[in-house]
Parts: sequence; C-alpha cells; structure tokens
Amino acid sequence: MTDSPPLPSFDWPELKPGWVWLCGAGPGDPGLVTLHTLNAMKQADVIVYDALVEPAILDWAPQAEAIYAGKRGGKPSAKQRDISLHLVELARAGKRVLRLKGGDPFVFGRGGEEAQTLIQHGVPVRIIPGISAGIGGLAYAGIPVTHRDVNQSVTFVTGHDQSGETPTSLDWQAISKGSQVLVIYMGMKHIARIAGALLDAGRPASEPCAVVTSATTDAQQVLETTLGTMEADIAASGMEPPAIICVGRSVLMRQVLDWQALEAGAAPRNLDPLDRGLPAETV
Ligand SMILES: C[S@@+](CC[C@H](N)C(=O)[O-])C[C@H]1O[C@@H](n2cnc3c(N)ncnc32)[C@H](O)[C@@H]1O
Repeated sequence: MTDSPPLPSFDWPELKPGWVWLCGAGPGDPGLVTLHTLNAMKQADVIVYDALVEPAILDWAPQAEAIYAGKRGGKPSAKQRDISLHLVELARAGKRVLRLKGGDPFVFGRGGEEAQTLIQHGVPVRIIPGISAGIGGLAYAGIPVTHRDVNQSVTFVTGHDQSGETPTSLDWQAISKGSQVLVIYMGMKHIARIAGALLDAGRPASEPCAVVTSATTDAQQVLETTLGTMEADIAASGMEPPAIICVGRSVLMRQVLDWQALEAGAAPRNLDPLDRGLPAETV
C-alpha cells in the first residue's frame, strides 16, 4: 500500500498553511478512512498521529513528515498539553498540519481539548469525523449497535478516567438502568470493577456481552461471553487491548450477522437469535 489512492473528482477543501485539521482515521481497516481524511493526507506537510492509527495508511502521504504522538494506557507517553502546543507550533511555522486520530476525534479521543487549545491560540481548525470503534468495530463483529427488538438507546462509556482509574464520577447505577446496550471503551484494565458495578446495579449475570479486540484489522478477535463470566473469560482468552466491550442482547445478533464467518464459508449459527419467530422486518 505505497501509492496514495486517487480521490474521486469533487470540490475538495484545501488544507491551507497554518491550519490544523483534526481527522478521524477510523478503527483500523484502511477502507474505513473517509475521503475527507484522505484528501487531508494528500495535502499535509506534517501528520501528527496516535497509537491506534493503522500505520500502513501513512504511506498514503509520502510527502508528509509523520510524527508519532501516541498515548497508550499505563505506558510512558507524550503529555496531552505538549501535543496540543506542538500542533500550535507547527501551525505557526506555516505548516499544513493533519492531526490524525484513531476512530473519531471527538469520541473519547481528546479532540475537543486539542481543538479548543488550537482555537485559543488563534489557529484555524477543521474537524473531520471518523468511524468510531464503538460502532464500526462492533459492526465488523456482526453486532448492530442498535436493533429495534433490543434497544432504543445506547450508552457509550469510558472505562478509564483521566488518572487511568475506573471513572468514579460515573453513576454506574444510572448507566446500568439508562440503556439496554452499553458500549465500553478502554474497559479491559478495570473489567472486574465495571462488571461488578453493573451486576450490583441489577444487570443480570446471564446478560450477553462481547469483547472485540483490534476490531476491523486482520488481528480482530471476538469473545462472546456474559456479564457474570466476562472477567474470567477475558483472562482465559489472553485477549489484549484495544478492545470494545458491548453489554446487551444485541450481542446475540452476532449468531446470525457474523458476516466475516459467513464470508469464510460458515453457516449462520442461528437465524432467529432473538426468538422473534417472525420475519426480521415484521412489525
Ligand atoms: C482513546 S480511545 C479512542 C477512541 C476513538 N477515538 C474512537 O472513536 O474509536 C481508545 C479506545 O478505543 C477503543 N478502540 C479503538 N480502536 C479500536 C479497535 N480497532 N478495536 C477495539 N477497540 C478499539 C478501545 O477501547 C481503546 O482503548
């Protein structure tokens, strides 16, 4: 993947010198990069990218200097303030700056803070959303984040707070009661506490859960489990972050929608996993 893929003809915006564009790179599969992000990559002088950006896509911008600004839980990493100020510096030096973040820059990605700092320093910005792992990653596992027979709302939760601990400011009782489906980012480290809090809040131990690691990449792994057994099952699996954890009955839909298994020749495990006994579209 060394050539930059062509863009279809369109009146693409120009990334001007002195500007910073904060772009989402999607969860990993290069095909999930948006055309706007590709347009930015073709014009950038410098790309400041995060740990979860698929490195192969950087080949699409051979003209750009690539600067790694990764931050992974528990490992020594660039400080957020330093990253933001570095972006300001690059913009002030007249560079066309692309800040490339995994997934969507405004979903648990600190894109809001970076954009705010840039604007506070008078640097013009553009925001280009991306496909977030909590939606696209689940789709690659055959799990629809909403399904009419399961949920009318979905809650996206972070399993870390700023200190790296389980967020104590979160009202797990309210979260538990608020949505039929919960999608947890950065939840692996504290899975025991998170699962315990949800069980304490009354979610059943038998509730279906899925853990999807390295979603949308060739290394994707999916574990189907339950709230009561999730901690032990994760430990036994040896699965490693990055992971998206989904709690709720929509996980059952994977029994029919695991399209990657179907593509590999498997038969659907269960054509009616929610036991509707009706065609899927019957009201
Ligand atoms: C700092 S957050 C960034 C989220 C990102 N902005 C997004 O919208 O997907 C990092 C977390 O996102 C999740 N994540 C990102 N990419 C992932 C992937 N390919 N597979 C599974 N989880 C992923 C994991 O929970 C990871 O710990």
